[in-house]
Amino acid sequence: MAGLPSKVFNAGITGVGAYLPERILTNDELQKMVDTNDEWIRTRSGIKERRITSPEQATSDLAVIAGERALADAGVAPEELGLVIVATSTPDTIFPSTACLVQDRLGAKNAAAFDLAAGCTGFVYALATGSQFVTSGTYKKVLVIGAESLSRITNWEDRKTCVLFGDGAGAVVLSPVPKGYGILSFTLRSDGSKGATLIIPAGGSRLPATRETVEQKLHTIHMDGQEVFKFAVRIMGKAALEVLAAAGLESSDIDYFIPHQANIRIIESAAKRLVLSMEKVLVNLDRYGNTSTASIPLALAEAVHSGRVKQGDHIVVVGFGAGLTWGAAVIKWGSPT
Ligand code: UT7
Repeated sequence: MAGLPSKVFNAGITGVGAYLPERILTNDELQKMVDTNDEWIRTRSGIKERRITSPEQATSDLAVIAGERALADAGVAPEELGLVIVATSTPDTIFPSTACLVQDRLGAKNAAAFDLAAGCTGFVYALATGSQFVTSGTYKKVLVIGAESLSRITNWEDRKTCVLFGDGAGAVVLSPVPKGYGILSFTLRSDGSKGATLIIPAGGSRLPATRETVEQKLHTIHMDGQEVFKFAVRIMGKAALEVLAAAGLESSDIDYFIPHQANIRIIESAAKRLVLSMEKVLVNLDRYGNTSTASIPLALAEAVHSGRVKQGDHIVVVGFGAGLTWGAAVIKWGSPT
């Protein structure tokens, strides 16, 4: 644990990776499963199709591939990692953590590993958490992964939720970058009083799995969609403005805005509040649905690999989800030498 002098470095993203399962589930297919239709799904949510984890795969399998790709992108060997954080609501098992499975499969033999649960805000929470270990000098290389197999906790008979979610994984490597670059500011918030609006009621210590809980599908996602919608619209722009102000920036300084991908109407309302053209807003929910903790790193990885993101660009990420939780960060892209 060689210490870096604090306040000399920021933590920045120096590699990105993504993985999506091959199986595509279209709105037309969903139409055959529940009382819904392509038009409703597209106009109310913006989703056209989503990916589904194959029967042989679990969340760690998605996470390992995204993690390997991020490490390769960063030019970092697994042994260099000091920490692996997996943000997920769909761990392979309650324990061991999915992060430990990933740590082993990657060969990150010098790394600590833990899962982080903050609903769909998990990636932003993990990004901020991982960055603290880098700026404090505790670890020089941290792997942060958002990975989900939401199809495994979806009630495929509930049209209000089953059309929304998708599976996937995105990963970033955090390393020290010069002051002025990397994560410039972040905010993490929670309001546990609203926990029941987005919940998996059974399968934990409150309601352990029984025949009845399984029959009643209490181990699947239960959501008050309208309440979550109102909350998301309220906090998205606000959280973005908060982190911009903390970084001494304004919304006109944003080059790319990466919101959590839950509903195109939520995203558009945040863009309006920030007076941002939709060209600066990265959207993938049309193709992948709501992938929870994976949505932001998936969008980031696509933007970086397509060459859209340039050194010096200001990127604002905002997440929200179960808890209820929300969080945002401003990142200045690149690591000049
Ligand atoms: O990652 C964070 C977690 N999730 C979210 O952020 C989701 C936030 N919420 C939303 O995105 C939206 O609230 C939904 C997409 C879930 C729902 O959209 P909405 O505009 O709030 O629709 P609604 O719940 O008010 O439902 C309108 C109508 C209802 O019918 P009635 O009562 O007006 O006759 C629903 O039963 O649409 C019906 N409906 C559907 N119809 C066709 C609900 N789901 C469907 C469906 N297909 N899949």
